[in-house]
Amino acid sequence: MRTLAGVDLAALAQREGTPLYVYSTPAILARARALQSALAGLDAGICYAVKANGNRALLALLAGEGIGADIVSGGELRRALAAGIPADRIVFSGVGKSAGEIDAALQAGIARFNLESRPELDLLQARARALGVCAHASVRINPDVDARTHAKISTGRAENKFGVSIAEAHAWFDAGATWPDVHLDGLHMHIGSQLLDLAPVREALARMAGAWRDLAAAGHRLSCIDVGGGLGVRYREGEHAPAAVDYVAAIREALAGFDGRLLVEPGRWLVAEAGVLLSRVLLVKEGASRRFLVLDAAMNDLLRPSLYDAWHDIVPLVDSGRERLAYDVVGPVCETGDTFAIDRSLPRCEAGDLVAILGAGAYGASMASNYNSRPLPAEVMVDGGRYALVRRRQDFDAMIAGECFATDWTTA
Ligand code: LLP
Repeated sequence: MRTLAGVDLAALAQREGTPLYVYSTPAILARARALQSALAGLDAGICYAVKANGNRALLALLAGEGIGADIVSGGELRRALAAGIPADRIVFSGVGKSAGEIDAALQAGIARFNLESRPELDLLQARARALGVCAHASVRINPDVDARTHAKISTGRAENKFGVSIAEAHAWFDAGATWPDVHLDGLHMHIGSQLLDLAPVREALARMAGAWRDLAAAGHRLSCIDVGGGLGVRYREGEHAPAAVDYVAAIREALAGFDGRLLVEPGRWLVAEAGVLLSRVLLVKEGASRRFLVLDAAMNDLLRPSLYDAWHDIVPLVDSGRERLAYDVVGPVCETGDTFAIDRSLPRCEAGDLVAILGAGAYGASMASNYNSRPLPAEVMVDGGRYALVRRRQDFDAMIAGECFATDWTTA
């Protein structure tokens, strides 16, 4: 890998510095269009999960394809609106929405709220009443299926904090006629992330279909079913992102006959493989028993390997004819967990070489932090041999801008 979307990565790193997130516009568009075309003929919409990568340039690109947003905070609401995503294409998920966030979403006129608990439903009713509006809402059901993914990104088991049981959802619908401020007319689910096998998706869809049919039999008409996100991507050899047509075929089959709107909320599948994190080798350290490749990127820039033991392919941008050596690839942060790869066989690297960490378009920049007082990395988009800066590298002043000395003491 020397170029991405026609842009020379070494020249790019020279100009913009490292660590640097690089997103391929054509790769994102290819995924977006494949999913749109698989959904053709259905009354269906894509609500991109903003948490995967909320950069506004990327959101604007997706907005241009007619894609909406799945948000989980007031901050994501503002990002989506600022990027030009119409409010009526925004859905609001998450287990703990604050009154302020609900108000902002109601005032913006978002399409619907995905509700996860009775107290949240009560809060939505109170806020909608106070603002004199009617909120559209779906119940997030917990289908209790094993998504067969990493425990920390599995969300659809009964013991997880997400959603309510199908029985409880049914009870909400039975009581719903008496809620003037919340129009409950949808079902939602999200069973987990990085799903490479469609079997758990089919199992969850079957439970969703069962819930829809039971509700219909009880006289409740649903106008929306949101099947969540979760589609996986290729992080390493042997893995394959499910094809959009296969995923949508599963939805079509399970929900055949449903006459309302269908929503899907992919995040990772749309953007992960389109992004790389470019980093420079600071030094090679021959330790007592291991050889460390110390990069200028660290766990604060890309947390997934530390947090989930996630595998990301690492491609040194060097002559592939170099001999191969085993490296522990690490960052400069003062934690043993600041490790991108253990015992990874790579072409021999030297200080100053560049490496590309692949699959970094999703849950990379969006999970970055200032840990160890490291400024947030810059982000660029690449397309047809050109690039555009979409986030300036944070400088020291910006990093500490919100802090002040304890000079103004007052009482609470
Ligand atoms: N919808 C809901 C309600 C979600 O909670 C999520 C992700 C999505 C959609 C999008 O899921 P996706 O299509 O991206 O799998 N930080 C973790 C992933 C956490 C996902 C949380 N929820 C990681 O880096 O693997």
